[in-house]
Amino acid sequence: MPAASSSPPARIVAVGGGKGGVGKSFLVANLAVVLARTGYRVVAVDADLEGANLHTCLGAPAPRASLADFVAQREEDIAKLVVETPIPNLQLIAGTHANLGDAQPSHLRRVRLMRSLRRLQADFVLLDLGAGSHSSVLDYFLVGDEGLVVLAPEPTSVENAYTFLRAAFYRRMRLAMVGHGVRKLVTAAMDQRNERGIRTPLDLLREIEALDPIEGSLFVETMREFRPRVVVNSARTAEDIKLGFAVCSVCRKYFGVEADYLGYVNQDEAARLSVAARKPVVDYRPKSDASVYLQRIAHKLAAAREESLEPAGRPRARSGAGS
Ligand SMILES: Nc1ncnc2c1ncn2[C@@H]1O[C@H](COP(=O)(O)OP(=O)(O)OP(=O)(O)O)[C@@H](O)[C@H]1O
Ligand SMILES: [Mg+2]
Repeated sequence: MPAASSSPPARIVAVGGGKGGVGKSFLVANLAVVLARTGYRVVAVDADLEGANLHTCLGAPAPRASLADFVAQREEDIAKLVVETPIPNLQLIAGTHANLGDAQPSHLRRVRLMRSLRRLQADFVLLDLGAGSHSSVLDYFLVGDEGLVVLAPEPTSVENAYTFLRAAFYRRMRLAMVGHGVRKLVTAAMDQRNERGIRTPLDLLREIEALDPIEGSLFVETMREFRPRVVVNSARTAEDIKLGFAVCSVCRKYFGVEADYLGYVNQDEAARLSVAARKPVVDYRPKSDASVYLQRIAHKLAAAREESLEPAGRPRARSGAGS
């Protein structure tokens, strides 16, 4: 059940994935529409200022106000950048009209932005991230309550998803560590060929524990909290669908990180046609396979929110992509 007006902070869901064109914006637009139609108040945010097109995926005209105004420090109040969309309950902060010569916002400004987003009058804030693993993308990904990693079933996309997860993991760890020496160790570990011979997060943990056991415990705790959600988009075969499990299993073995396979969306001509028609596929072809799988993912996001709002102490059920 969506929250009433005296509601808890907005739940931030960040959608990234490393590779361009895998369907991040398509996913954000459609998940936002399903959640809004379910009755949640949703704000979709286009954080991809260099390739802003979320408004098009939602069938909204390019708004004048945009996140670019916050980045360029023309507007400090994020709430003033929110515009209505044709879909009830769904609002948008676009990424249009960016000055491509502008520098990326600083880390502190990104943190400020995320704090403001959490205070928006919304149940969900969905963030559409740009491609790549730059720190400006990772910061948005890391402050989300949920971080979705989208990949397509092709080697280049899988490779980029691992690079993205690896970069996100180490950035998260470095932000969590307090001591200068420990942070230096994490920075060293980010270079895959570092001379200290740190090759895996477990190597890093051993070094940190030797230097400072308290930071070692903090490292383990932060590692446990890092739970990326994997989505396979444009799946065509049973093997493609299984890829999500394989990625989660590599995360567990290599990082010691529990990733969840949130779900998959099959490759569907209706998806391509809906983008061409500038409409979300869940509206354009609500009965298409893609729409059905998108609805399934949206319902899992809704369930995770409801679960997070339950009083502490109740057992928490986890669900996998196959459920
Ligand atoms: N499940 C699908 N089936 C068929 N086509 C799809 C599917 N998902 C996405 N597409 C197609 O892929 C195109 C690229 O998707 P989208 O723009 O969402 O990718 P992106 O990851 O946001 O890219 P970028 O990194 O450039 O922002 C869409 O315009 C659509 O035509
Ligand atoms: Mg995009």
